[in-house]
Amino acid sequence: MLIRTTVNGEPREADVWPGESLLFVLREHLGLPGSKNACEQGECGSCSVWLDGELVCACLVLAAQADGREVRTVEDLSAGDELSAVQEAFLEAGAVQCGFCTPGFVVAVTHLLDERPSPTELEVREALSGNLCRCTGYTKILDAVFLAAEHRRSAP
Ligand code: FES
Ligand code: FES
Repeated sequence: MLIRTTVNGEPREADVWPGESLLFVLREHLGLPGSKNACEQGECGSCSVWLDGELVCACLVLAAQADGREVRTVEDLSAGDELSAVQEAFLEAGAVQCGFCTPGFVVAVTHLLDERPSPTELEVREALSGNLCRCTGYTKILDAVFLAAEHRRSAP
C-alpha cells in the first residue's frame, strides 16, 4: 500500500507492506537511520519518535497507522551541524558511550523538557523508564538531562 506521511515537516510517501513497522519505513524506505532498532518489541526506547506529537516506539507502530499523520524523528533536532541543547548536553556530560541508545534518549529527553522545563529527578527517571542503556549506568544521562534543562532555560 502507498502511505503518505509528513516526516520532519516534509511530505513523504512510501510503498510499503502494511505490516511493516514505522521504524522499518523510516530506516529502510525513507533513508532516516537515526532511530535505532535494538529490540523491535517496545522494550528499549531506541526507536523513539513523535507521532502527531506523542512519543511512541516506532517499532510498535504499523506503517499503515502512520498514513496521513505527522512523524518527527531525531534527525529533526539538529540544524545542519548545529546540535540541539539536549544533544550538546549529552556530549558535554559524557552520556554517550556506544551511542546506540542515544537517539532514543535525546528524543525522550526533548519531549520531557518540552513538557516540563524543570523536571525533578523522579520525573526524569519516570520519563526515561522506557529507555534502556547498556553502557553508561545512567548517572551521566541524568547529568545530561539537568544540564540540557539549564541550557534551555538560559537560552535567549
Ligand atoms: S527497537 Fe523499539 S523499543 Fe526497542
Ligand atoms: S551508550 Fe551504549 S547502550 Fe547506551
